Amino acid sequence: MTNDLTWIEISSKNIKHNVSALRNLIGGNCLLAPCIKGNAYGHGLEGVAKIVAESQVDWICIDSFTELQIIRDQGVNLPVLIIGTIQKELIAAAAALNASFLIFSLDDAKQISEQCALEHQTAKVHLKIDTGMSRRGVMPSKALETIRSINGLKNIEIEGIGTHFATSEYVGNTHFFKEQFNVLTDLLSTLKSQGICAKYIHSSNSGATIRYPGSHFNLVRPGLSIYGYFPNKEIKKWSNQKGIQLKPSLTLKTRVSGLKTIPESCCVGYGCTMKTRRDTDVAILPIGYYDGLDRGLSNYGYALISGRRAKIIGQISMNVTVVDITGIDDVSIGDESVLIGCQGEEEITAEEVAGQLGTINYEVLTRLREGIPRYYI
Ligand SMILES: Cc1ncc(COP(=O)(O)O)c(C=O)c1O
Repeated sequence: MTNDLTWIEISSKNIKHNVSALRNLIGGNCLLAPCIKGNAYGHGLEGVAKIVAESQVDWICIDSFTELQIIRDQGVNLPVLIIGTIQKELIAAAAALNASFLIFSLDDAKQISEQCALEHQTAKVHLKIDTGMSRRGVMPSKALETIRSINGLKNIEIEGIGTHFATSEYVGNTHFFKEQFNVLTDLLSTLKSQGICAKYIHSSNSGATIRYPGSHFNLVRPGLSIYGYFPNKEIKKWSNQKGIQLKPSLTLKTRVSGLKTIPESCCVGYGCTMKTRRDTDVAILPIGYYDGLDRGLSNYGYALISGRRAKIIGQISMNVTVVDITGIDDVSIGDESVLIGCQGEEEITAEEVAGQLGTINYEVLTRLREGIPRYYI
């Protein structure tokens, strides 16, 4: 039992289950490169890096040099692909820590080449092709020319070619996925006809890893699914019908820090947004928007206490939330309360919270304050 007032428990077993489930989907000839950026989608970078390093994972995708340093400090020596932008000054240091870089333009390649030349290093890069997301990456029409130019640079070597899908998780929209996929495969054929091939070809995020085996090539980059969540309800339903089961791995917990009964017609919280209509038993929870409990859940969301749902009443404050526990017996100070996850027979999923906030489970999870202690069990 922890002494913390608010903490997060991560099930290592469930993450390992999800790794195996994805591994089964991709088969033995494809490398698994989970994304553990964004503090491992809120699950804690250091802890998750160690868990995946003990699982059947081949590579790790991260966003930044800072994340690279953290995982190397943990003794995790798996190959790493930095999929975010890297500052010029950190390129050589990242290459020295044996990271490969996802690059988005010839200018990126030139900068990496120059920086690595200064340190007598050679960087490995993966060129991102913009097949339709219109975000980062080289336009397909410029790809051949860009690759030829990069091949002419010193201290840099193209190790991979990749793209990113905009709609792979939208079950009702296969059309745009196919367009992007065809752009990539057409380009790969053109490159092949010119004698150009890269060691790694990758395109699949969680949606494509789950739905489109043809898009796996020889490396996949799933993020959210590693932690046990599906990108949306439709793909969850689709996957469950196909027998693909993922197990959510995060539980956000706090402890009841106060109990009282307030009379009818009492205001609760800042702005008096809620007025009691009866004598109301409340529990005070030492968690607030500072921790990532979004104010949008005020007067709307729930906490679990004694295995029952207790409605959040009044505005969520920075560090405090009040819940209505009328009718829930035997609540004591120090009792555990769950804001995301299971307690007894009840569950508050990240998806439920996301639905209440009009956002996606990705945001709910990654918003959880980095400083909340995380325990891997
Ligand atoms: C380039 C890239 N690849 C893979 C992923 C993983 O996506 P998901 O979490 O949907 O699996 C992301 C996520 O943002 C990404 O930016």
